[in-house]
Amino acid sequence: MEKALFGIPNLDVYLVLGILAFFIIIEIIGGYWHRTQRTSSDWIQEMGSYFVLALLIKPGIVLAALFVGNTFLPQFQYAVAGYSFGLALVIYLFADDFLQYWYHRSAHEYPFLWKLHRPHHQAEEMGFFVSYRNAALYYLMMPNIWWIGIFTFLGGAKAVALGLVLKQLIIISSHSTLAYDKILYKYKVLHPLATLWERIFITPAFHHAHHGKSRVDGISDPNGNYGNMFSIWDQMFGTAKFTRQFPTQYGLENDPKEPWTAAYLYPAVAASDPKSEISRGYKKVSTIKPEPSTVSLVKGEKYLWCQCGMSKNQPFCDSSHHGSKFKPMFFVASKTGEVRLCNCKKTKAGPFCDDSHLNAN
Ligand code: FES
Repeated sequence: MEKALFGIPNLDVYLVLGILAFFIIIEIIGGYWHRTQRTSSDWIQEMGSYFVLALLIKPGIVLAALFVGNTFLPQFQYAVAGYSFGLALVIYLFADDFLQYWYHRSAHEYPFLWKLHRPHHQAEEMGFFVSYRNAALYYLMMPNIWWIGIFTFLGGAKAVALGLVLKQLIIISSHSTLAYDKILYKYKVLHPLATLWERIFITPAFHHAHHGKSRVDGISDPNGNYGNMFSIWDQMFGTAKFTRQFPTQYGLENDPKEPWTAAYLYPAVAASDPKSEISRGYKKVSTIKPEPSTVSLVKGEKYLWCQCGMSKNQPFCDSSHHGSKFKPMFFVASKTGEVRLCNCKKTKAGPFCDDSHLNAN
């Protein structure tokens, strides 16, 4: 499988290592490593996950895909080898990113996948290593890692090599504390470029919003902005939120902070804390009630109304919706005083009660 870029063997590997080294140096110069509050468990998880992914999981999956292709579908070997390099690169990258968008989105919408992806969102600080913080099984099932092997088998090894470098550049920069896009938002003359760039590629602002702790800040959207390289999928499927601002808080609410062994090896290893989503037998239960709650709101304050019906803090969101297709409704109180907020979740006037509960069976 010929994959030497520009005739230089392993150039793709050197480029990815160079990108990593660049961001490490920039983050050190920026004082990040003095400020960081990361625990040893965070470091073990992030560094360990990166090296296991790079040295074992990715090569293992690629070899498995090549073996399956050569054994069962040999007639397709080199099927794209005759394509121009540019066409192969476009096909590889767009298919790769489309697969990852849906896998990532599914990891937020389905409970089992959420448990494997949850460690990624437990990080309370951004930084380049956050990119690789997921359970091992999350990576083993990741369709776009299998796509690397499939496209290599089809004869697109060179496109894969350059595609991986370009994608790592976008992914690492969008997780980094070096938010290069701030400069695009600062100067009006650069705004057209900012618009063009953010409508195609994932920017730090766009992806940091995905890691923000709660929608209540009006910036974060942990249940949106799922894209990895291109923002076009989020725009196409209605999950994009562009604010050009950065959250002040990252991570998860109500996070019991499991040891890295459980976070990385779930479901083989589970957490012992029964409050943890990755403990054995953990279940979310419905807290829907057929009556509204009368609550006092303050004019101008921001609130999140629970729509999933599982919050232990009804009628407000407590982030129990993670791992489901629901997300809370953000609203700003228009006046100070008491209001009736819906608890049956059938209202058509959310977040307010419209007496739909009276018709509920
Ligand atoms: S707990 Fe967030 S929407 Fe229900």
